[in-house]
Amino acid sequence: MKSGLEDFIYKKIKSDYISPSFLKGRKNMPVAKKIQTSMEKSSWIRKMFEEGIARKAKFGAENVFDFSLGNPNLEPPISFKKTLIDLVHDPNPALHAYMPNAGLAATRKAVAEHLSKQNRNPSSPEDIVMTVGAGGALNVVLKTLLNPGDEVVIPSPYFVEYNFYLDNHQGVPKVVKTKTDFSLDLPALESAITDRTKAVLINSPNNPTGKVYGKQDLQALGELLGVYSRKLGQPVYLISDEPYRKIVYDGISVPSVFDAYQESFVVTSFSKDLSLPGERIGYAAVNPEMTDKGMIVGGMVLCNRVLGYVNAPAFMQRAVAHLVDESVDISLYQGKRDMLCNGLADCGYTFEKPGGAFYLFPETPIEDDVAFVQALQEENILTVPGSGFYGPGHMRIAYCVDDRTIEKAMPGFERVMKKYK
Ligand SMILES: Cc1ncc(COP(=O)(O)O)c(C=O)c1O
Repeated sequence: MKSGLEDFIYKKIKSDYISPSFLKGRKNMPVAKKIQTSMEKSSWIRKMFEEGIARKAKFGAENVFDFSLGNPNLEPPISFKKTLIDLVHDPNPALHAYMPNAGLAATRKAVAEHLSKQNRNPSSPEDIVMTVGAGGALNVVLKTLLNPGDEVVIPSPYFVEYNFYLDNHQGVPKVVKTKTDFSLDLPALESAITDRTKAVLINSPNNPTGKVYGKQDLQALGELLGVYSRKLGQPVYLISDEPYRKIVYDGISVPSVFDAYQESFVVTSFSKDLSLPGERIGYAAVNPEMTDKGMIVGGMVLCNRVLGYVNAPAFMQRAVAHLVDESVDISLYQGKRDMLCNGLADCGYTFEKPGGAFYLFPETPIEDDVAFVQALQEENILTVPGSGFYGPGHMRIAYCVDDRTIEKAMPGFERVMKKYK
């Protein structure tokens, strides 16, 4: 399951960050070998997280500039709280009971109406499965589609939880680099397709790059997958992970994958655009025109159940039914993006200006992105090495933080850049 690149990154990170102490010197592990390896692989992220906590304790939280997590800093819109208050006073019985595994009919209807506004063909409630966040939606779709050893092509850099999700369902990631501006490299994608390819998994706006894929690129990808579906005699599915769809800047919009390709899924959540990541609410939607749609949705409903989710949280389903078209004030994130991009450009950093999400993925001035991120830590600036996203030579800055953090971190960003340039 490990690609050459993954192996390289793993070894590099392992040499820089030791295994957690509780794993050291143990022969008989209580946890499965695979989980042990995953824990070791994740240890550098934990190490950075712990480093952040230690620094906050030592220097005071206000003097540590934490850009490491994609945890939205904006509060949910006021309409969310108003909706919750109304729901609490709803006198109807059985509001907290089990329900059909696909979710509440009213919520699926609201989601379908929302989707119908952004795609050529209208969606119906039967095309929607409410899920435990976008992570839950991805697991539901992957479990529904994958036979052991099936391959999923993923453009890099990418959200590496995908590797774990694929492994959950015995899928194999085939990682393909994007172009230097992080747009899709279609010839590279094409060369990664084999007779074991079951799906291509894209994420736009992208974590960690902020890239929004253009309409023409999606159209061309759809055509390519159509060709290979005919060649292979079965669909190569397109799974589009879109939790940042509403977080876009400068008036751009995210093109529809449903319009670009028939055999497509959208997986998403309200985690980022309504600032509800802890509430674990999202959905998976199939293209209303998908071949064998009934069987596939049936599989997804079963998978939602047997993965142990059973159904998405009832209270949140009832809440988001009223909020499908809403979001936090996106102009606030655009302001943060601009402040960060202007500041870093003045310090000599180079980057692709993000069109969406709340991440910037600048180049590190030295090849060793882990070393550069460590140097920033010395300035109490916490970022994540690009290697962790299959994007070596870069770092991810999550700017879903207050403006003051961006402003106060800038002299430190400048000092570290001066040291290396
Ligand atoms: C690209 C991407 N996909 C999926 C998720 C998971 O989202 P959720 O918290 O809704 O499960 C995240 C969370 O950061 C993400 O960045």
